[in-house]
Amino acid sequence: MSTSPFQRIGVVGSGAMGRGIAQLFSQSGIAVRLYDSNPAALDSAIAGVADTFAKLVEKGRMGADAASAARARLEPAGALAALADCDLVVEAIVERLDAKRDLFGQLEAIVADDAVLATNTSSLSVTAIAAACRRPQRVAGLHFFNPVPLMKVVEVVDGIRTDAAVVERLVALTRLTGHLPVVAQDTPGFIVNHAGRGFGTEALKALGEGAADIPTIDRILREQVSFDGRGFRLGPFELFDLTGLDVSQPVMESIYRQFYDEPRFRPSVIAAQRLAAGLTGRKAGEGFYLHKDGRQQTPAEAPAPKVAVRPPVWVAPGPRAAALREAVAALEGVVQDTGRPGEHALVLVAPLGLDATAAAAEAGLPAARTVAVDALFPIAPGRCRRRVLMPTPATLPDYRDAAHAIFANDGTPVSMLRDSPGFVAQRVLAMIVSIGTEIAQQRIASPADIDTAVRIGLGYPLGPLAMGDALGAATVLEILANLHRLTGDPRYRPGGWLRRRAQLGLSLLHED
Ligand SMILES: NC(=O)c1ccc[n+]([C@@H]2O[C@H](COP(=O)([O-])OP(=O)(O)OC[C@H]3O[C@@H](n4cnc5c(N)ncnc54)[C@H](O)[C@@H]3O)[C@@H](O)[C@H]2O)c1
Repeated sequence: MSTSPFQRIGVVGSGAMGRGIAQLFSQSGIAVRLYDSNPAALDSAIAGVADTFAKLVEKGRMGADAASAARARLEPAGALAALADCDLVVEAIVERLDAKRDLFGQLEAIVADDAVLATNTSSLSVTAIAAACRRPQRVAGLHFFNPVPLMKVVEVVDGIRTDAAVVERLVALTRLTGHLPVVAQDTPGFIVNHAGRGFGTEALKALGEGAADIPTIDRILREQVSFDGRGFRLGPFELFDLTGLDVSQPVMESIYRQFYDEPRFRPSVIAAQRLAAGLTGRKAGEGFYLHKDGRQQTPAEAPAPKVAVRPPVWVAPGPRAAALREAVAALEGVVQDTGRPGEHALVLVAPLGLDATAAAAEAGLPAARTVAVDALFPIAPGRCRRRVLMPTPATLPDYRDAAHAIFANDGTPVSMLRDSPGFVAQRVLAMIVSIGTEIAQQRIASPADIDTAVRIGLGYPLGPLAMGDALGAATVLEILANLHRLTGDPRYRPGGWLRRRAQLGLSLLHED
């Protein structure tokens, strides 16, 4: 076992985070002193950690000797002064700048000059906390996620005046605990809470445009998105209900404001209104869904329409036309192989970042018979769990229903959207990649650390840069460029990191 870069660690604040941090360090063989200004909170934290160790022993995940040694390494501190001989103090108190600055000032008067001070803040500036210190170069962020022992990623936050050696020691410490360190420059949301803005915010934008209802958007993101079988475990609205809108909405607002109203992060009126109404999610019994006895109530999906006569299908030319033709044929549709659609043919088009109307108009197709298909992911039978279609507002109901019936022919559910640019998955994934590449562009973190932080911190199937590579950087660029052209909304403007790599055929993980 490698030796710890710190011999004794003080942890201040023994709430949900502080007790987890204390547990992790003591379990990793390091002496820990835990302090809380509320003695009852401290007692309950010490008892709680002892209880956790006992349970780990019961489950056979920890030896009895190791547990009692770890328990013995964790000491309660009756006063802040008891942290005097700690060479690192990690702060996990209330999330208020004045309280943290005040605490760091007090700590500097207690600990040795070369002791490191770290903050577990999620949303405050590490640099602003450090500015209250005589020696700001010893202050860094050490941002754990909840629950600390299980969430294996830690953001080591490099403040403007933080010493490089301090960052290195915190990285080494994190590795010693078995967690994965990622290094982030001190910017709003660091990596995880910054990169996490795409998923929910863009889903809210699609909802706000009436593209689909809440369960449909969730089903699409859970079932259509598949990177070698891996997707999102929860839809964005299910995730909002689990986290609580009282937590998520302030984060969305704060990141948006801290980046000076960057349109990519623009929050949604829908979320603000629902929060005002108290519909915060699971714990309130109602959020985007109703929750009964802790179980989400999801409305059933309407079955595919029964269609007496299926028209022949004509597929508009384009990069995804072959996949579309093959899928239709495999679904027992009759494909027309003519240069132009026959008089009664259902016209299918597979646009990127466009709505069905623009796709039909730009290709000179008959809108009344056109339906757009999202072919971003495989659509062949046996290769997908959901297909997503979108008629134009002029598409005749018979043609819309015929398309629905054909694509549901193998029993795969079909989501029928209202016309809107970029379907659901295209726009949400493109925004995740867009924001991830902007984080790389701003050198907030290395490409590898961005992807690690997002995969582990947010549980995404891939990090945003690998996700962009899997979709194809040029594909993501086309989705964003078309969204931008159609809507005029600067949130969709593609950034330089993405555009250059797409144009050069380089991986989005490529550094320069
Ligand atoms: N809860 C999370 O999911 C999460 C995740 C990452 C980071 N964080 C951050 O970690 C920090 C702690 O969060 P938490 O959820 O554990 O909070 P919490 O409310 O559960 O615990 C905070 C503890 O700090 C104590 N405290 C408050 N002021 C103090 C002071 N001046 N000196 C000593 N003790 C003091 C309180 O008595 C309380 O026991 C915050 O900065 C928060 O933003 C929280």
